[in-house]
Amino acid sequence: MQLIEEQPVSRPQRDAPEILVIGGGKGGVGKTCLAANLAVEIARRGWRVVIVDADLSCSNVETVLGIQAARRLDDFFYQKGGKDLGQVVCETHYDNLAIIPGTTGLLDVANPKYQQKIALIRELQTLEADLIVVDLDAGAHLNTLDFFLMADTNGILVITPEKTSIDNAYKFLRASLFRRVERFYQSPELALLLKRIESLREFIECVKTSNTFEGETKGAICRELVALARSMKPKIVVNRARNAYEAQIAANILSKLARQHLMIEPENLGYLVFDNHVSETINSGMPLVVSYPRLKISQCIADLASRLGYF
Ligand SMILES: Nc1ncnc2c1ncn2[C@@H]1O[C@H](COP(=O)(O)OP(=O)(O)O)[C@@H](O)[C@H]1O
Ligand SMILES: [Mg+2]
Repeated sequence: MQLIEEQPVSRPQRDAPEILVIGGGKGGVGKTCLAANLAVEIARRGWRVVIVDADLSCSNVETVLGIQAARRLDDFFYQKGGKDLGQVVCETHYDNLAIIPGTTGLLDVANPKYQQKIALIRELQTLEADLIVVDLDAGAHLNTLDFFLMADTNGILVITPEKTSIDNAYKFLRASLFRRVERFYQSPELALLLKRIESLREFIECVKTSNTFEGETKGAICRELVALARSMKPKIVVNRARNAYEAQIAANILSKLARQHLMIEPENLGYLVFDNHVSETINSGMPLVVSYPRLKISQCIADLASRLGYF
């Protein structure tokens, strides 16, 4: 079914899908609304998009898209033998947009084993699509961090112009970086040092002065740490902003924290204005870009899609 008026455009196909992970640490900042609307907007431009509800305990992408899927991620986690994520992909009301619905949220599927999670990440990369949009949950627990780290350069941090949200996003980014370092080295000595420090700069100082490593090893580790941080290029989206100026200030504060303490240089991708229609569209199951394409907020979503390269 095609609820959108324009004719679908046919696009050149990509070899492997791009993965865009939407996180941010804090709950209620608008990650799911952004993920769903961005996915619909990019699909309507002719790109093949799959939206993945990776909020393993409280999934609600289906609600925002106004559908009820017959299969869910639980089925993937408990498939016997070789796992096939394709079997869990469901259609939506929109051309070019498929969904991998979330889990039932029951205890064991909300906390998948490491191997189950790795299998999911591996399978996502084999899906036939141009773009996979992954909606994460709040908090900075390992599941969320590992999903966020799936795509080094393509994590979106959603914040609002409030100190609490900026602070949570900074802590989420720091936890992601430290998790990346932990997984890169798999060294108990470094993991121990990492537990006691608050920033990457402090960690580098700690490595330099520690007796655990030889001089040359210390130098190599410090260079690798900087390279690991620099290769992370998160994109900031400020939601519920009153205007572009307010959004810019919030994004600048987060960028400065990331640069000063973590040596990470985020990109300011854009913003969404506060709009009272958002909750109405959630209740109706008709995303903003479909029900109110002319609102400023829908224009903001369209701008984000273009800035991501999906014209
Ligand atoms: N730009 C906005 N303007 C007004 N309300 C918004 C906006 N974005 C999100 N909301 C509201 O914030 C709430 C949380 O949004 P949601 O996408 O579920 O957040 P998250 O996924 O980060 O927990 C929703 O009830 C929605 O109505
Ligand atoms: Mg959500």
